[in-house]
Amino acid sequence: MSAVLISSATMAGAAPLPDWPDTWYVVARSSDIARGKVFDGSIAGKAFVIFRTEAKELVALDAHCPHMGAHLRSGKVVGDKLRCALHHFELDRNGMVKEHKACSGRKARAWPVAERFGLVFLFAGHGVPPKLPCPENEYAWSAGRPVVLRSNWHAMMANGFDILHMATVHQRELVVPPVFSGPVDEAIHFSYTTRVLPGGGLSSWLMKRLSNNHIRVRQSCYGTIMLVESDLGRIRSSAIFGFIQEGDQVRAFNACGTMKIGVFWRLRLLLTRWFYFAFLRKDYGVIEDMRLVIDGIEDPGVRTLGDFLRSLPVLR
Ligand code: FES
Ligand SMILES: [Fe+2]
Repeated sequence: MSAVLISSATMAGAAPLPDWPDTWYVVARSSDIARGKVFDGSIAGKAFVIFRTEAKELVALDAHCPHMGAHLRSGKVVGDKLRCALHHFELDRNGMVKEHKACSGRKARAWPVAERFGLVFLFAGHGVPPKLPCPENEYAWSAGRPVVLRSNWHAMMANGFDILHMATVHQRELVVPPVFSGPVDEAIHFSYTTRVLPGGGLSSWLMKRLSNNHIRVRQSCYGTIMLVESDLGRIRSSAIFGFIQEGDQVRAFNACGTMKIGVFWRLRLLLTRWFYFAFLRKDYGVIEDMRLVIDGIEDPGVRTLGDFLRSLPVLR
């Protein structure tokens, strides 16, 4: 079986995949934003800051002070407010500067922000935010160090939906035809069952033993975020990936989850992480420097994903 050719630009006439869909983005791990720290970044060129209040809640605001435009990354967290370093006006969680006539009526935009799975999600749009990823089961989560690859987030997402590479890269064979559904809950879902082929290394061998060679996976795409739930016999686990483009690199935030059952759940969580990353390591070398071609590709997973991504509203 030969790999899908993914090497050049989008074909003429097809709508481009959106670089910045109007959706949630994972921008940090929870542990990146300690109390008192001001975290800063940007989405589609729009700069933001995030800080944690005394009550440990996250607040996200436009990065520039509504008074005279100083960047708020040099500000100081004071209780539930952020004090701008330039003239010491204080912004509340809504971005309002109160008690200062000089700023009356001026406001920094407050961005919807959420913290789940040990990750920080930011909504950069102006309307009602879509639903956040929602696993079918309750898991205990652990966020890992983000992976940075010289590639594009479309390529990372397409890899998760590319059925053909399951055999060539992961030594897996479909035993039940894949089922696609959606958009449901503002995501598309893809379920499949594979068995392990020879030559996959230690992790594949172990997966084969644990699952009785029947690995069920449900994968969902929520714009820039991918949720995976796997069933390896008695080990049910999940992983979530949030992709964000940084120039010619993509940063993949990630967290793994396992069901908090029994006394060995922490060990299962470590094993889950090892399984996911042993699987993904096989992808990284192939995805680096990839220029995704999606048009004209027959693979039903890639085609379904392309249609869904093109249907997403774009950030303005
Ligand atoms: S620029 Fe921020 S208080 Fe003046
Ligand atoms: Fe892959």
